[in-house]
Amino acid sequence: MSLRRAALVALAGLGLAGLARADDGAPSVSADPAAPQAAPPPVTLEHAGPPAREPRHEIHPATPLLDAQGEPVLRSGRPVSFMRSCAGCHDTAFIAAHNYHAQAGLDELAEPGRTESGRPWDTGPGLFGRWDPLTYRALTPPGAASLDLGTAEWIQRLGARHVGGGPAERSRIDGQLLDARGPRGAWDPDSHVLDPASGEPRAWDWKASGTVELNCMLCHAAAPDNAARIQALQQGRFAWASTATLLGTGLVARDEAGFRYLAAAFEPDGSVRAERLGLGRARSASCRQCHGRACRCSDPVVFENSLQNWSAETGGAIYSPARARLSGMNLAGKDGLDMPWDVHAERLLECSDCHHAPNNPAFDLKRAGPERPLLHLAFDARRTSVEDYLWRPDHELVKGHTSQGTAARRLDGSMRDCRDCHDAQAVHDFLPFKRTHFERLACEACHLPRLLAPARMSTDWTLLGPDRQPRVSHRGVEGPVNDPASLVTGFEPALLPHRTQAGSLRLAPHNLTSAWFWVQGEPPAPVRLLDLERALFSPEGYHPAVTAALDADGDGQLREAELRLDTPAEVAAVAARLEAVGVRAPRIQAELQPYTLGHGVPPARWALRDCTACHAPGGRVTRAFALADHAPGGVLPRVVGDTRTELAGRISAGADGRVTYQAAARPGGAYVHGAQGLTWLDVLGLLLVVGTGVGVMVHGGLRILVQRRRGRAGR
Ligand code: HEC
Ligand code: HEC
Ligand code: HEC
Ligand code: HEC
Ligand code: HEC
Ligand code: HEC
Ligand code: HEC
Repeated sequence: MSLRRAALVALAGLGLAGLARADDGAPSVSADPAAPQAAPPPVTLEHAGPPAREPRHEIHPATPLLDAQGEPVLRSGRPVSFMRSCAGCHDTAFIAAHNYHAQAGLDELAEPGRTESGRPWDTGPGLFGRWDPLTYRALTPPGAASLDLGTAEWIQRLGARHVGGGPAERSRIDGQLLDARGPRGAWDPDSHVLDPASGEPRAWDWKASGTVELNCMLCHAAAPDNAARIQALQQGRFAWASTATLLGTGLVARDEAGFRYLAAAFEPDGSVRAERLGLGRARSASCRQCHGRACRCSDPVVFENSLQNWSAETGGAIYSPARARLSGMNLAGKDGLDMPWDVHAERLLECSDCHHAPNNPAFDLKRAGPERPLLHLAFDARRTSVEDYLWRPDHELVKGHTSQGTAARRLDGSMRDCRDCHDAQAVHDFLPFKRTHFERLACEACHLPRLLAPARMSTDWTLLGPDRQPRVSHRGVEGPVNDPASLVTGFEPALLPHRTQAGSLRLAPHNLTSAWFWVQGEPPAPVRLLDLERALFSPEGYHPAVTAALDADGDGQLREAELRLDTPAEVAAVAARLEAVGVRAPRIQAELQPYTLGHGVPPARWALRDCTACHAPGGRVTRAFALADHAPGGVLPRVVGDTRTELAGRISAGADGRVTYQAAARPGGAYVHGAQGLTWLDVLGLLLVVGTGVGVMVHGGLRILVQRRRGRAGR
C-alpha cells in the first residue's frame, strides 16, 4: 500500500475520508499555467487538509493532437479528434465498436413495438431508442408520420449522458455518416429536427454541426471540462465537443469564433505531454459525471436531486467515501450517522474495480461455473498480454443484472457481484438457515436497509407547472427536494422479487418510480411536448380553458394545489385542448419503472439484523409501498415489460387518492414466517402441535392416574 493510500485509510478511519480525495491522479498540472496555485487548506482539528500527494509516475508517451483528417490541430485549427489522435497506439475503432456507452442501443434497435419493454413507441433497449419518462421526449423512428425527436436534437437534449460515437456519428437508417448523407424521402428523423415555431420538420445542417465522436477524455482525463462539452452539444457544435473537453488543460481557449489552440502549451513537435492531458485509468470522478454527481470529495458531501445526478435521482445512492455525519445536507438524525455514504468507496474501490474491462488482464474474467473449460483447472494462468490489452481494451464494461440496465443485456451478470467477492457463508453467524436466506434474498436486501438520499417517486406529465416542467415528487424528503431547509429522511427500499439469470426469484431492494403522461393515436405514442405546451399555455400563461377547468377557488390563477387532474371533467377539459391543437384521441397512461439498487452499502454493522424487520406483520417483504400522492385521471400505473421484476401484488388508489403498491401475500413464492397471516398450513400445523400436546397430556395424565390406583390397590 502506498503512503498516500495508507494516509487515506487512516483518514477514513478518523471519519475524515470526505476531506481526502480518494480519486487517484488528480491533474498533475494546474489547469491554467498562468492561474495562481490554490493554497492547501490549513490543517486544524476541524479542518484536516488533503494529505501531501505523491508525484504521479507518468509513463504515457506524448500524444499528437490531430483533427479528423489526421492533420495536427495546431496547423489546421480544426476540432480535435481523439479517435484519430489516440489511434496511433490504441485501436480506437475497436474501442468504439465494443462499447455499449457509445452504442447506446444503436446495435440493438428493433421495429417500434417489438421491444421487450412493451411500449409501442420504443425502438430499442438503450438511451437511443428506449423512451424514458424522466426525460420525456420520444425518439422518432424512421417512417413515422410526424416528427418529435430527431437524432440531432437527441444529441442536444440527451448528449450530456452519451459519451459520443454510435448514433451520434452514424445514421441508424442506412449506416452512413450523418454528415455525409441526404434525407430518405421528404424528411427522415436522422436528417431533420422539429422546428419549434412551425411544429414541422426542419433540415439539420450536419455539415455545419459535424458529428459527435467517442470522447476518450471524458473518462480518461483527470479533469475534463464536461460542462463545456455539454454546452457545445446543446449549441449544436457537435464536432467541437471533444475540443471543449480540453478547456482547462491550457491547450485550448474560448474565443468569439469558438475555440483557439494555445501553441505554447504544445511540445515543439506539436504533440502534448500526457501529464498535461491528465491521461490515466478511468476514475470514479469521470463516471460520476453521468452516473451520480454526488461528491465534491474535498469538502463535505453536498448533493442535489436532479437528472444531472442520475443515481441519486433514480435510487438515492451516493457513491462517496465521506462520512454522512459530516455532510452539508440536512439529514435526519445526522449526528448518529457515523458511516460513509458507501463502504466500498471508503475502502478505496473505484467504479472500474467492479465495472472493469472484460479483457483487462488484471482481473480474472468471471465465468459461470459449468462454463469452466476443464474440470481440473482451478486457475488459468494464461493471460492477455498487457500490450494486446492496451491496444484493444474491450469497452463492454462488465455489468450486473438490474431492472433498469436494459441495454447490452448480453453482458448481464458479467460483473463480479457481492457473492463473487464475499463469502457470505463464512460470516453471518447470527443468521439461521443461511443458505435459505441467501437463496431467497439478494445480499442488498439486508445490506441496503435504508438509502440516505431522496429519490424520484413520481413524475406527472399530464399537466405542466408554470415553468413548463412536469410535476414531480420525491420519497425520502420532508418538504421540497433540494430546498436546504427540507429534512432529508432517506427511505427504506421496496423488497421486490427480481428474476436472477438462473431463473429463480430473489427479493432485492428497489426504488419504484411512476409516471403519468398523455398518449395519442393507435398504436399509442406519447403526445409531443410541443403539442402539450401548445394545448396548456397561451402566450400570457395557462390557456383560459385550462384555467377555467382547474381553478377551484375561482381567483383566475392556477395555484400549486390546483395543478392536478382529479375529476373526469378536468381530464376532459385538457383532452379537449389537446384535440384542439391536433392531437388524436388523447388519453392518460401511466407506468412504473423499478430501479434495482446496488450502491450505497453501509458498513456491516448498519446491515439489517433485526429478524422482525421481515418476520413480523407489516415487515419489509409484505408491506405496502407508496407510489404517488395521487393518480392523475384516476389511471393506475403498470410496470414496464423489460424489468425482470415481478410485481405480483396490487396497485391501488386509497380513499385519499394516494397510490400504493401492496406486495403479494407470498412475493416471489417466499413464505416469510410471521409476516403473513395464518394460512391453512399454519392452522393445520398449529392444530397438530396443540393436538399432540393435548394427546401427550391426556396420555400422561391417564398413566399417572393408573399408576396411583395401582399404588393404592397395594400391588
Ligand atoms: C504514441 C503512442 C500512444 C498514443 C498516441 C496514445 N497512447 Fe495511450 N498508452 C500508450 C502506452 C505506451 C501506454 C502504456 C503506458 C501507460 O500506461 O502509461 C498507454 C496507456 C494508456 C492508458 C492506460 C493508462 C493507465 O494509467 O492505466 C490509457 C487510458 C490511454 N493510454 C489512453 C490514451 C488516450 C485517450 C489517447 C489519446 C488522447 C492515447 N492513450 C494516446 C501509448 C499511446
Ligand atoms: C465511459 C468511459 C470511457 C470512455 C469514453 C473511454 N474509456 Fe477507455 N476505459 C474505460 C474503462 C472503465 C476502462 C477499463 C479500466 C479497467 O478495466 O481497469 C478503460 C480502459 C482503457 C484502456 C486500457 C488501459 C486501462 O486503463 O485499463 C485504454 C488504452 C483505453 N481505455 C483507451 C480509451 C480510448 C482511446 C478511448 C476513446 C476512443 C476510451 N478509452 C474511451 C472507460 C472509458
Ligand atoms: C463494490 C463494487 C462496485 C463499485 C465500486 C461500483 N459498483 Fe456499480 N454496481 C455494483 C453492483 C453490485 C450493482 C448492482 C448489480 C446487480 O444488481 O446485478 C451495480 C450497478 C451499477 C449500475 C447499473 C444500475 C444503475 O444504477 O443504473 C451502474 C450504471 C453502475 N453500477 C455504475 C457504477 C459507477 C458509475 C460506479 C462508481 C461511482 C460504480 N458503479 C461503483 C457494484 C459496484
Ligand atoms: C457521458 C455519460 C457517461 C459516462 C461518463 C459514464 N457512463 Fe456509464 N452509462 C451511461 C448511460 C447513459 C448508461 C445507460 C446505457 C443505455 O441505456 O444505453 C450507462 C450504463 C453503464 C453501465 C451499465 C449498467 C447496466 O447495468 O446496464 C455501467 C456498468 C456503467 N455505465 C459504468 C460506467 C463507468 C464505470 C463509468 C466510468 C468509467 C461510466 N459508466 C461513465 C452514461 C455514462
Ligand atoms: C469487486 C469485489 C466486491 C464486490 C462486487 C462487492 N464487494 Fe463488498 N467489499 C469489497 C472489498 C474489497 C471490501 C473492503 C474489505 C476491507 O475492509 O478490506 C468490501 C467491504 C464490504 C463491506 C464492509 C464490511 C465491514 O468491514 O464493515 C460490506 C458490508 C460489503 N462489502 C458488502 C457488499 C455487498 C452487499 C455487495 C453487493 C452489493 C458487495 N459488498 C460487493 C469487495 C467487493
Ligand atoms: C438477513 C440479512 C442479511 C443478508 C441476507 C446478508 N447479510 Fe451480510 N450481514 C448482515 C449483518 C446483520 C451483518 C453484520 C454481522 C455482524 O455484525 O456480525 C452482515 C455482515 C456482512 C459482512 C461483513 C462481515 C464481517 O465480519 O465484517 C459481509 C462482507 C457481508 N455481510 C456480505 C454479505 C453478502 C455477500 C450477502 C449475500 C450473499 C449477505 N451479506 C447477505 C446481514 C445480512
Ligand atoms: C430481509 C428480510 C429477512 C430478515 C432480516 C430475516 N429473514 Fe428469515 N427469511 C426471510 C425470507 C425471504 C425467508 C425465506 C422464505 C422462503 O423460503 O419461502 C426466510 C426464512 C427464514 C426461516 C425459515 C427457513 C426455512 O428453511 O424455511 C427462518 C427460521 C428464519 N427465516 C429466521 C430468521 C431469523 C432468526 C432472522 C434474524 C436473525 C431472520 N430470519 C431475518 C427474510 C428475512
